[in-house]
Amino acid sequence: MRFLNLPLLVWAVTTFGIASALPQDPLAVRSATASPTVKLHQGTVRGTIDTSYGLEQFFGIPYAKPPVGSLRFAKPQPLDSSSSQTLIDATRFGDICMQPPAPSPLYNMSENCLNLNVVRPKGTSAKDKLPVMVWIYGGAFLQGGTPSYNASELVQKSVEIGKPIVFVAISYRVGPFGFIGGSEVADSDGATSNAGLHDQRLALKWIRHNVAKFGGDKDKITLFGESAGAMSVALQNFANDGDNEGLWHAAIMDSGGIAPGPLLTPKHPTVEQSFKNLAAGVGCKSGSLLKCLRSANATAVQSVANALTAQAGGTFPIPGALAWLPLVDYEFITDYPSVNLPQGKLADIPVIQGNNLDEGPLFAQKQLNNSAQFEQWVRTAAVIYNTSYTEQALQKVFKLYPDIPEQGSPYYNAETSTCAGTTTNLTSRRYPPLASNQYKRSAAFFGDFTFQAHRRTYLKAATLGWKKNRDKVWSFEFQQNDKYANGTGSPLGAYHGSELKYFFVRPDGRVKDPVLQDKMPRAYISFVNYHNPTVLSGWDWPVYREGSKLLQLKGGNTTVIEDTYRKEAMEALTNEKSAKVFGF
Ligand SMILES: *[C@@H]1O[C@H](CO)[C@@H](O)[C@H](O)[C@H]1NC(C)=O
Ligand SMILES: *[C@@H]1O[C@H](CO)[C@@H](O)[C@H](O)[C@H]1NC(C)=O
Ligand SMILES: *[C@@H]1O[C@H](CO)[C@@H](O)[C@H](O)[C@H]1NC(C)=O
Ligand SMILES: *[C@@H]1O[C@H](CO)[C@@H](O)[C@H](O)[C@H]1NC(C)=O
Ligand SMILES: *[C@@H]1O[C@H](CO)[C@@H](O)[C@H](O)[C@H]1NC(C)=O
Ligand SMILES: *[C@@H]1O[C@H](CO)[C@@H](O)[C@H](O)[C@H]1NC(C)=O
Ligand SMILES: *[C@@H]1O[C@H](CO)[C@@H](O)[C@H](O)[C@H]1NC(C)=O
Ligand SMILES: *[C@@H]1O[C@H](CO)[C@@H](O)[C@H](O)[C@H]1NC(C)=O
Repeated sequence: MRFLNLPLLVWAVTTFGIASALPQDPLAVRSATASPTVKLHQGTVRGTIDTSYGLEQFFGIPYAKPPVGSLRFAKPQPLDSSSSQTLIDATRFGDICMQPPAPSPLYNMSENCLNLNVVRPKGTSAKDKLPVMVWIYGGAFLQGGTPSYNASELVQKSVEIGKPIVFVAISYRVGPFGFIGGSEVADSDGATSNAGLHDQRLALKWIRHNVAKFGGDKDKITLFGESAGAMSVALQNFANDGDNEGLWHAAIMDSGGIAPGPLLTPKHPTVEQSFKNLAAGVGCKSGSLLKCLRSANATAVQSVANALTAQAGGTFPIPGALAWLPLVDYEFITDYPSVNLPQGKLADIPVIQGNNLDEGPLFAQKQLNNSAQFEQWVRTAAVIYNTSYTEQALQKVFKLYPDIPEQGSPYYNAETSTCAGTTTNLTSRRYPPLASNQYKRSAAFFGDFTFQAHRRTYLKAATLGWKKNRDKVWSFEFQQNDKYANGTGSPLGAYHGSELKYFFVRPDGRVKDPVLQDKMPRAYISFVNYHNPTVLSGWDWPVYREGSKLLQLKGGNTTVIEDTYRKEAMEALTNEKSAKVFGF
């Protein structure tokens, strides 16, 4: 297993946030001005003011009872109301959920992690009814936390352009605490396989119920997520037969569709095995393993989960490595996308969904030295969950993701080479910084298999003829490769997560493109306000239904392109037989 779980870590780490992007101490930005307070049923929350950005921020507001003890692995429970005399200190981040440790002086980690943050323009009052953007973090359903996403610039920008928004970031349980499977869980009334998704849904109910008191418009709420966060948004739109209970009204998905890899059921042998291994790891041997797991020390559960994740790596970085994923529980996720989507079971709301040009390189295989090894790796992925890719289908995939470095990712034709080329040679079989000669090929395959093809599946369902909002669907491909001052870009191209710096404070030493820096947040703020990204961005961005057009987001050449790239290859991936397990 050795280095095999490295790509997974990278996925988690890059989507979770890099050290330099960690927020500064919120206490340091507290001003002498009176702290803002908001009265809720659960008490009065007291936040902080950031005078330099002109913001009021409320951190770590609980939205559910702590999911501990008998509530571990259970659906989250709403809070009881309490006296408004109860003061809720919202001046510092709440705890992040259990995960491989991300030590920080700014927050702790515990199971008592169901909380959310609200950031609003300074001086916002309850009567303002500002549109609301709700952020759901990524992190491979294994990691993630709201503190890594600093929305100060975004909210400040919304004020600057005269279209202020309220920003809310919600937490949800991850790893086994959020996504445990197994028969015992499936057969228990008090446990669920999709606790993390239920957390998100309860947070959305809380927001619908309370956001007006913060000056937000409860009838204009847009979800926004990236990577596993985008998958979460897609899954929320898909859950409950597509009935979103009127809790949100539009959605933005950056790099993620409905399936997080394989979509399995709680009783699938692989899932069952993960449950048993977790139980055995913490010393639960007989009787109700679920009950025993509930009484185990959370730190112990987490460390066993970490070890299992590392072991589960197999030869396939993400699907094989992730033991804890959303499952088709036939309750909240009522059936497979291949069954539900053609019936239109998907929330009928305005949507923006896009990908980055080079979704794959962060996760691509670094040890595949020849074509046979590449094929073996794909084969493992395709058969490990008995997906029934036929031999013929596999041969087609091998051919359509050919052993030609020029056709691998980072993609050649996208000018990532103009900057990457200063440090690397894209034509080279041994594309640096790696020695593997199948690296670019595996990156192309993985990016489509995990991210790109799912967008096409989703957009097809979102634009079905009878959908009321079929003409409020936009799509993009982010192709920008930002450069350091010395002109060097990333050798990974426009990689997974690299667009986030245009929305959140995430300094990475590279210079942002001035056009995108202005227009990307404008487009999203526009969408949150008008359910249309073009009003405030001025971009000529056609709706998807008109000829499957995408906006190519690239500094200096932001233009409309057709969503036809690697069409045949992605159709081969999403063939009928594979559709079920991989959620296409
Ligand atoms: C967000 O980032 C800005 C810029 O670095 C910083 O001043 C501010 O303190 C950060 N906010 C939080 C809550 O960390
Ligand atoms: C973390 O927990 C410790 C111990 O309970 C506490 O003293 C500290 O204030 C907490 N830090 C934050 C940021 O909540
Ligand atoms: C759980 O284990 C950790 C680390 O071994 C320990 O610090 C903690 O006190 C334990 N918690 C409980 C509730 O026993
Ligand atoms: C590819 O070659 C490298 C270096 O010799 C080796 O470490 C690696 O194990 C090989 N990969 C496979 C799949 O055999
Ligand atoms: C895959 O299918 C084989 C043959 O039908 C079966 O023996 C095996 O248990 C299945 N594996 C999984 C993980 O479902
Ligand atoms: C890049 O690599 C290719 C294939 O190995 C080689 O033909 C070409 O000369 C290299 N280009 C540069 C600029 O080194
Ligand atoms: C350019 O700057 C970056 C960041 O400082 C550095 O990592 C890289 O090596 C530099 N590249 C060249 C060619 O000087
Ligand atoms: C701009 O992008 C389009 C679409 O990818 C491409 O065809 C065109 O050559 C690019 N133009 C420039 C000047 O790079």
